[in-house]
Formats: sequence, structure tokens, C-alpha cells
Amino acid sequence: MFDALPPRVRVYEVGPRDGLQNEAAVVPTEGKLRLIGALTAAGLPRIEITSFVNPRWIPPLADAEFVAQALRAEPAAVRARYTALVPNERGLDRALAAGLGEVAVFMSASETHNRRNINKSREETWPAFEPVFARCAEAGVAVRAYVSTAWGCPYEGAVAPEVVRDVAARLLAMGAYEISLGDTIGVGTPLQTRRLLDVLLAALPVERLAMHMHDTRGTALANCLVGLEAGITTFDASVGGLGGCPYAPGASGNLATEDLVYLLHGMGIETGIDLDRLVDAGLVARDLLDRDLPGRALAALAASRKH
Ligand code: HMG
Ligand code: MG
Repeated sequence: MFDALPPRVRVYEVGPRDGLQNEAAVVPTEGKLRLIGALTAAGLPRIEITSFVNPRWIPPLADAEFVAQALRAEPAAVRARYTALVPNERGLDRALAAGLGEVAVFMSASETHNRRNINKSREETWPAFEPVFARCAEAGVAVRAYVSTAWGCPYEGAVAPEVVRDVAARLLAMGAYEISLGDTIGVGTPLQTRRLLDVLLAALPVERLAMHMHDTRGTALANCLVGLEAGITTFDASVGGLGGCPYAPGASGNLATEDLVYLLHGMGIETGIDLDRLVDAGLVARDLLDRDLPGRALAALAASRKH
């Protein structure tokens, strides 16, 4: 064990999107910008800043245009690589108008979650994605793609790894530069992760896969360790452990960025992230939401500063 860990990992921050989409309280635009600024200052290289979905479906991110346009005005030197969630062509129109150079599409491996989340069957989703990929290719906009419910569905239960593989392969063939495998409801366990990755890696290049774990049952880091050993080098995480999909009952926080970075640095794996400044970002999130956050390292590291 631990013979084949990568020297460097890329952390993809989803807190301003996956984190804030699930909050009852709407964080004002200035607060979102403060959080994104703190994450950028901590050295997060890629940040998902918002969602261009129907604001009636995700009210906390209804200010997507304002967030994206404010960040667009920043000098290039202080910007991270910003991206945003886009479900369809209407979302892409909005993202392009707001100046995004990268977007993320998403579909579920399971039929019922896909329908509940984007009001379409999986078969209806493919044709809706085609113009999104075509227009992004034309405009030089990079597309990342999520495969949600890859470890299990809140409505259907178990999901076959072969289905996840086929959805991921099709999204790559359409032009996605990276597939983020989502444990949307945080049900995955390490042996299951090993079996899922065995099926995927027999067909797909490891450098094109990322893992997006939710920590609902405390298994996110253990699953990431299995991913690291299998050669995965991109992991999604959310500041303070915020997050969840409002259309996945029982879904709670994402893997906390501080927990992931603490583990990686402790094992000698570089991320380019300043953990101390990441804690500052976590404290910004805590202040904005005015409550303790689920991430464990954040509380411990913040408390250790007092001694
Ligand atoms: P729909 O109601 O079927 O849409 O929703 P429609 O095409 O029938 O249009 C209905 C209305 O919505 C129209 O407006 C459209 O213009 C408007 P009206 O004529 O009634 O005034 N509309 C839009 N407005 C703004 N932006 C848009 C947009 N599209 C249509 N992009 C839709 C379909 C996909 C829009 C809806 O289901 C939706 O917004 N869903 C988003 C759900 C969501 O954001 N879920 C959470 C993110 S996924 C997740 O968290 C998982 C992930 O983290 C990975 C993991 O954890 O596994 C990614
Ligand atoms: Mg998620």
C-alpha cells in the first residue's frame, strides 16, 4: 500500500457552486466574491464559481451573471481558472455572455436522478448536449463533464459500473476534456471504488478522470485514497465541506477541501495550495453562513491557531 502515490494532485474547488447551491440562506453576491477571492488567494487553481441553471430550480445561485461578470473584471494575474455549471444551451448562452472560458455539463448514470435533476431522461439529454459541445468547440471553450450518481442513486440504489463507464466514454467522445465521477449522495466505500475504477480504467485514460466525493457517511477520503493508488490525480472538493444536490434526497456535504489538502500534504503530495490561507477561506465561508461547517480539518486547524 502507498507504493504508487502521485507526487502532485490537482484540486478542483466546487464550494461556490456545489456548496452554496444547497444552502437555505442566499449568500449575497459580494459574499460569494469574497469567498472566491479567498480561495483564489489560497492557490486553488480551478474554481467552479456558480451555475447557469434555471434560477427557479437553484435560487441561491440566481446571481450567476453578477458573480461571473465581477470576476471577469479582475486582472488576469489574480484570477484562478473559473468555470460554471451549464445544463443546456440556454445555460451556455448565459455563460458565454458572462465571459466564461470553461463550463461543466452534468448528467446522471441513473435514469431517475437525471430526470429529477434536469427534467430529462438520459436519452433526451444527449441531443441537448450536442449543441453545447459543438458551440464550445467553435468558441474555444473547454468542457468538463460530471457523471453523477456513479456510486449509487437516491432513487434506484446500486448503479452498475459498466453504465458509468459508458456514460463517461460517450461524454469524452463528445469532447469533454475531463470526466468528474460523482458520488452524489456519498454512499461509496473503498472496495466499491476499487471495483468501479477497475471497470473504468480498463477502458478510459486515467488522466482524464477526476473524483467528486460527497462525505455524507464519512467515506470520502478513504475513497480518494483508493483513487490516488489507482492513478487518479484530480479531486473535487468544497471549502468547509459545504454542499449537496438539492435534487438528491439525503445528499450532504462534499469532501472538505481542507480535509483533502491536509491529507495530501501530510503524505508528501503537492497541490500548490497554501493550507493556512485555505483555512482563511473556510473561515470566510463560516462567517458568511454564520454557522460551523462540516469539514473537520477546518475546525481543528482554526482552533490550533489560538495556541
Ligand atoms: P425545464 O423546466 O425542463 O426547462 O428545466 P425548459 O427547457 O422546459 O424551460 C423552462 C423554463 O426554464 C424556460 O423559461 C426556460 O427559458 C428556462 P420560461 O419560458 O418558463 O420563462 N430555462 C433556463 N433559465 C435559465 N438558465 C437555464 C435555463 N434552461 C431553461 N439554463 C433545467 C430544465 C435543466 C433548466 C432545470 O432542470 C435545471 O435548471 N436543473 C438544474 C438542477 C441543478 O442545478 N442541480 C444541482 C446541480 S447537479 C449536482 O449537484 C451534482 C454534481 O455536483 C455532481 C455530483 O455531486 O455527483 C454536479
Ligand atoms: Mg456534487
